[in-house]
Amino acid sequence: MSTERTLTIVKPDGVAAHLTGAVLAHLEKAGFKIVALRRLHLSRAQAEGFYAVHRERGFYQDLVRFMTEGPVVVAALERDNAVAELRRVMGATDPAKADAGTLRKLYATSIERNVIHGSDAVETARQEIAYFFPQSDLL
Ligand code: RTP
Ligand code: MG
Repeated sequence: MSTERTLTIVKPDGVAAHLTGAVLAHLEKAGFKIVALRRLHLSRAQAEGFYAVHRERGFYQDLVRFMTEGPVVVAALERDNAVAELRRVMGATDPAKADAGTLRKLYATSIERNVIHGSDAVETARQEIAYFFPQSDLL
């Protein structure tokens, strides 16, 4: 099992509900090392670009509005099998379908307002980390 990196975002609902610390603590307890961290308010263009893969979907405009409604906290994470492990710890997109104990089951309020993003593949993770942490000399 090789060390891998992935990207997570505590979405605006999670930040507004003061869940940033709880989410990051949960991830640390699950074995992730936080190797980079920042808080920012995504612009419309940034949110559109980040979720461009979904631009033909009916929920796209609502998703962009949601992701820009307030600040987010973005982190680069490291552990073995990080991409798949983060997806497992997050739980299903729809909290009603998420396994017990997952972050979305614990904290999400709907399929859209689901507290956390996780990269969906190693290559996507590499691109997302480079986008949010372009200059950083990640140790
Ligand atoms: P994410 O990309 O944020 O980690 O979430 P995901 O992989 O679990 O789900 P994805 O299919 O990539 O969808 C991205 C985000 O769009 C919102 N969504 N709303 N109303 C809807 O039916 C719907 N479906 C998806 C969610 O915020 C979802 O996480
Ligand atoms: Mg996704």
